Amino acid sequence: AATAALARRLIDWQRQHGRHTLPWQQTRDPYRVWLSEIMLQQTQVSTVLGYYDRFLTRFPDVQALAAAPLDEVLALWAGLGYYSRARNLHRCAQAVVQDWGGAFPSTAAQLATLPGIGRSTSAAVAAFCFGERVAILDGNVKRVLSRVLGFGEDLAQTAAERRLWDIAEAQLPPAGEGVEAYTQGLMDLGATVCTPRQPSCLLCPWQDLCVARREGRPEAYPVKTRK
Ligand code: ADE
Repeated sequence: AATAALARRLIDWQRQHGRHTLPWQQTRDPYRVWLSEIMLQQTQVSTVLGYYDRFLTRFPDVQALAAAPLDEVLALWAGLGYYSRARNLHRCAQAVVQDWGGAFPSTAAQLATLPGIGRSTSAAVAAFCFGERVAILDGNVKRVLSRVLGFGEDLAQTAAERRLWDIAEAQLPPAGEGVEAYTQGLMDLGATVCTPRQPSCLLCPWQDLCVARREGRPEAYPVKTRK
């Protein structure tokens, strides 16, 4: 019950205070959502906004992207950095066309078999596009969850990261109760309130039960030593 309460509050907060007008939130097309998640992996929203529409104008669907020369994909990516993302993007588009008949698979487990799509990205696409009840755990979500729950284990350790994945799954809202808003809420809370430095705890829907805030040291989480 305490678990569902966390999710319930985050969903209500997301509907009132979260972001709803980003271009990739206006669609459930997995191609468009996947593209946004790859662009957003190591790049801020404000930067991605300058690339996303231009990329989709040139490559409006996965077939167009798969058929394009890699050089053209890289040219449109220029400035976003981390070019392995663009190479994997192209490889992934070709796999979707060749292995999936041009339609992205609709489960997180299947999506995760594609090039460049890890566990968190596959879950984000499956939750946003298909409403699948699966957990994400990117850098923002590691910070948000470790603070609210006081998870103090060292995330440089594989076993600790695995435990946080289990915890992320345990916090999901009940089936049929808004995993899309919950997932977006985690991202928005991490980006706008539960920031790495000087988080705005007074704006947080979890402020009264956050362990890190109660300890007076939100910036101490997440714990991550060098490997
Ligand atoms: N970062 C990663 N995914 C995002 C999304 N869907 N909206 C905003 N920021 C994000």
